[in-house]
Amino acid sequence: MHSIVYLRVPGASLVLDARGAGVPSFLHWGADLGALTTSQRESFALSQLPPISPSSIDSPRLLSILPVESEGWSGTPGISGFRGGQPTELSFELVGAEVPDAASATFMLRDVSSELIVELKYGLSPQGVLAMTAVVTNTGSVPWTLARLGISVPIPTRAREVLDLTGRWAFERQPQRRDLAHGTWSRQTRHGRNGHDSPELFAAGTPGFAFRAGEVWVLHLAWSGDHDMLAESHATGQSILGAAELLKPGEIQLAPGEHYSTPTVLGAWSDSGLDGISERFHSWARAARARPLAARPVILNTWEAVYFDHDFSRLAELARRAAVVGVERFVLDDGWMTGRVDDSRALGDWTVDPVRWPRGLHPLVDHVHSLGMDFGLWVEPEMVSLDSELARTHPEWILASAQSWRNQYALDLGNPEAFANILGQLCALLDEYDIAYLKWDQNRDLLGGSTHRQTVASWQLMAALRSRYPGLEIESCSSGGGRVDLGVLEHTDRVWASDTNDPLERQVIHRYTSIVLPPEVIGGHVGERIAHTTGRSTDLSFRLATAFFWSAGIEWDLTSTTDDDLASATLWIAAYQRHRGLLHSGTVVRVDAADPALQTHGVVAPDRSEALFAAVCLTAPRDAASTGLVFPGLDIDADYRLDVLDLGAPVRHFHGSPQWLRDGGVTLPGRILSGTGIAWPSLQPQQALVMRLERL
Ligand code: DGJ
Repeated sequence: MHSIVYLRVPGASLVLDARGAGVPSFLHWGADLGALTTSQRESFALSQLPPISPSSIDSPRLLSILPVESEGWSGTPGISGFRGGQPTELSFELVGAEVPDAASATFMLRDVSSELIVELKYGLSPQGVLAMTAVVTNTGSVPWTLARLGISVPIPTRAREVLDLTGRWAFERQPQRRDLAHGTWSRQTRHGRNGHDSPELFAAGTPGFAFRAGEVWVLHLAWSGDHDMLAESHATGQSILGAAELLKPGEIQLAPGEHYSTPTVLGAWSDSGLDGISERFHSWARAARARPLAARPVILNTWEAVYFDHDFSRLAELARRAAVVGVERFVLDDGWMTGRVDDSRALGDWTVDPVRWPRGLHPLVDHVHSLGMDFGLWVEPEMVSLDSELARTHPEWILASAQSWRNQYALDLGNPEAFANILGQLCALLDEYDIAYLKWDQNRDLLGGSTHRQTVASWQLMAALRSRYPGLEIESCSSGGGRVDLGVLEHTDRVWASDTNDPLERQVIHRYTSIVLPPEVIGGHVGERIAHTTGRSTDLSFRLATAFFWSAGIEWDLTSTTDDDLASATLWIAAYQRHRGLLHSGTVVRVDAADPALQTHGVVAPDRSEALFAAVCLTAPRDAASTGLVFPGLDIDADYRLDVLDLGAPVRHFHGSPQWLRDGGVTLPGRILSGTGIAWPSLQPQQALVMRLERL
């Protein structure tokens, strides 16, 4: 009754063998295989069958879409669980398949003995992103406890290297690589949020795959809770990437008739390295937004400027100066609630401090609006301080945890009364004040309770607010970059990439955060000369160039800056406003550096008519003079004019600049700029030169 399912979009395809009553198996995920007749599909299926190995099951092994032990799979099971305290032996058969078009398919599997139905959905987007979900329903008469339900995809033998991301506070999304040997490389995170070490992506590729080279397969779990990501290779010759929500024992109990859905797992394949993956994810994320993003406003965030020291005159002057330099959104960070003079109290009481704000926030909000900016406010709706009215009135709403963390506890948002209370408090604020933007923080690991329930509830709270206040924008922050994924971005408009505003750290954080996330949703701010998180001192030009490419903002006390600094900020904002259309719609490119000290990244317009690039010197370069500053992605048959973009502050060089720079730019064919390149400028460490290229 079923057939070989061939999902195909330009540049990518998925082929599944759904013939017969068995669970469909993967024949291919990767390049587009071209138009195939029915008989060619059958020949292809035949050609992919491996031999039967010695000491093996008596049929050829192909990875099924729901691999379990009973089919001869000895790797991580796609599904596992218990009924009545006993592990259930699972063995599925295909009971239904729908292939409504050339890009999507749904398969219905029934477990022959345990009374479960699993529905797996595959959708290949026009951008080549494979969206996958699984739903298990308990069709039996007694409860069934789910241990794991995940998505597994095959990777070929040639994908022998694995890249994933890790990190810590103020040092998020650091790459780590390894050879894929026999065994499982697994990243299980138990934070009750993504965490700073979140494996935001798992990539497997051909040896040496890089930003612009190699064939690579990537999975991303669009989920803001605990992750279970893996790359697994077996002596049988089978290798997989896998992604699932990590569940605690007994966390998901399905009563008869109940179901559990996995978060969406997003996959992408590229034969042009990680940049090819980014191109797919970015264009998918842009097209998938329910509400297209407006031009990303320049933000001033008050956190590092004043911390908890909320004083109207000081903030009013900060706002005045922000408006003078061209800031478009003023965001009042933590410290505005009743008694919130430090981080030990008041979470849960979303009321304005009557002592420091006797007339509420109105004077500040009105002042900000009168200066032509919109107003944003920090909140942390999922949390509660013991020293708060909320905790005193409803101690039963506090999620049990033996550990306080930043002096705070999580609120049990899965409790409908707690949820309604917080929603009510936030609505009261949004009704009273004209607030365009909430900076939504989450500053602790849960360390107890159900992460699943809490994550679902926090997304629901965001969704409830956005449906009541359709214009409201939300930023996802979690002690910096502890909640960054494409799932939370269905409910939010920006992520705070990290609490570090040190541009040297940010260069790496941006480079890797933007493999999956498009640049316009990644918040990057210009901080003080001496970074608060690292104590490192950097020039203004480096800070400006580093924040320029993202959703840009300022987190710097403009009331204590020089007039020169304000003039620089003004020029920088004007340049950002001129170029954000390109920065936030183009194709992100990153050069694989010959010398790791010298990095190049850029954005090329979809029609390749213009591009912006940054040449960045991170640390002392190996050579006194380097060749090959290249600008990939240009139209190789056209000529381009390259000019340095003045961001308002001088860039420091070691000694004499190359002639093209002293001439103020150069005109060359795209073929040369993209290929051979030009002489590197002699940038000092922690300097960046931003250049604009225009097709002639
Ligand atoms: C952590 C965030 O990442 C910071 O930007 C700031 O909002 C503080 N919390 C406020 O408590």
